[in-house]
Amino acid sequence: PMLARFYGITEGVRAVSDGESLDLGGKTLRFFHIPFVHWPETMATYEETQKVLFSCDAFGGFRALDGVLFDDEVDVAEYEDEALRYFSNIVGMQSKAVLRAIEKLADLAIEVIAPSHGLVWRKDPGHIVELYSRWARIEARPEVTIVFGSMYGFTARMAEAVARGIAEEGVPVRVLDAGRVHVSFLIREAWKRKGLVIGAPTYDTGIFPPVEYFLRLLERKRLRDRVVGLFGSYGWKGGSVLKMRERVEALGWELVGEVSFHGAPTPEDLARARELGRKVAERVGAVAPEA
Ligand SMILES: Cc1cc2nc3c(=O)[nH]c(=O)nc-3n(C[C@H](O)[C@H](O)[C@H](O)COP(=O)(O)O)c2cc1C
Repeated sequence: PMLARFYGITEGVRAVSDGESLDLGGKTLRFFHIPFVHWPETMATYEETQKVLFSCDAFGGFRALDGVLFDDEVDVAEYEDEALRYFSNIVGMQSKAVLRAIEKLADLAIEVIAPSHGLVWRKDPGHIVELYSRWARIEARPEVTIVFGSMYGFTARMAEAVARGIAEEGVPVRVLDAGRVHVSFLIREAWKRKGLVIGAPTYDTGIFPPVEYFLRLLERKRLRDRVVGLFGSYGWKGGSVLKMRERVEALGWELVGEVSFHGAPTPEDLARARELGRKVAERVGAVAPEA
């Protein structure tokens, strides 16, 4: 039905069923339905003579490849981040379907994985399968991501203090400004690390919108099991930290602490932020295995 609805193609079409083979004369294709590795009708196609898996949206990655096609032509360690940005934003919500697909394809002898997006894996196709499997199980590093937004810079100042507290515990930390960094990168960084500290000032009684958008997307992506801290400035009555707390509780994440403060942070507020950072770092160290 997609071909008809999206492209008006109705002639010369035959739907193949799960497990079916098609002899092209010299090449044989075998089809595997891997539903919801993004779309309901996602299907992987295996070419038996050359052992190539055309994996559709599974094992894909982002980024313009600048003329490059294969995994042996790039620094894979560097490219992995773009594969994770794709995974977390496009198929992360369907992590269970990804794990089912990996299991279903496990018995195939695969020499090349050619996804619809990103690199073709011919040197080490097992590597991207291993990465996808880890990401779909939401295995996270024992580190902390701080995502904050700030209109006048007060919440930004606190973000630095939280980061300092985390670093003092010897835990790696990455700080990102939701007002400047595209949300797909924020999602990726949150997917990577066990700890997540979120800072937002109050905006029209609620969460500053760039941060609220980030949180809403994490809900949609069904990111689980985060150790969380919250902070934010307000002008008169506040509300952002309270509303973030409600969201965090609904997600079932572990809330370690929160700091709400009036206007510009005082030295006491900054000390509380540092303490929040230390507590989150400690808890992350206690619950997350070494990656
Ligand atoms: C558009 C806008 C809406 C705001 N709405 C609220 C509000 O509903 N309640 C409140 O207490 N403060 C509100 N404030 C004040 C900010 O929360 C306050 O100035 C805070 O210190 C800003 O922190 P920041 O420097 O991190 O942006 C608002 C400010 C702006 C610019």
